[in-house]
Amino acid sequence: MKLLDWKSQYSVGVESVDFEHRQMIDLINELYTELSERRDPDSIEQFLGDIHSAISMHFALEERIMQEAGYEEFSAHKEDHEDLLDQIRNMMDVFADDTEAGFPELGKRLSDWFGAHFSTFDARLHGKLGAH
Ligand SMILES: [Fe+2]
Ligand SMILES: [Fe+2]
Repeated sequence: MKLLDWKSQYSVGVESVDFEHRQMIDLINELYTELSERRDPDSIEQFLGDIHSAISMHFALEERIMQEAGYEEFSAHKEDHEDLLDQIRNMMDVFADDTEAGFPELGKRLSDWFGAHFSTFDARLHGKLGAH
C-alpha cells in the first residue's frame, strides 16, 4: 500500500528534479510499506523519524544550493521547509496518542504540502538555478 501517489501538480517543470522528487516520494512509500508489515508503536516512531531525516536531507541540499547562489528567496523557501518539518514533528505527537487515525492525515498533509511547495518554491528555485 502506498502513502503517496505522484501527482502532476508536484512537477517543477525540470525533468531531472521531478525524477529526484519522485525518488523521495518512492522512499516515503517504501518506508510506509515496511511499517505496514510491522505495525507496532516503535516502528511508527522509527518510520516518522526516517521520513523526517530523508526529507531534511533533501531540504538541506536545496538550501545549500540557494545559499551558495545568494538566492533572494532563500529565507522564505527555508521557512516553508521548516514548516513541513514542524508538521511532521507534530504528527509524531498525534501518532503517540492514536496510531490508527494518523495515517490518512499524514498522507494528506504531505500530499498537500508537496503539491503547494514543489509547484511554487521549488519551481522558481530550479527554474532559476537548475537541478539539485
Ligand atoms: Fe527538491
Ligand atoms: Fe524546496
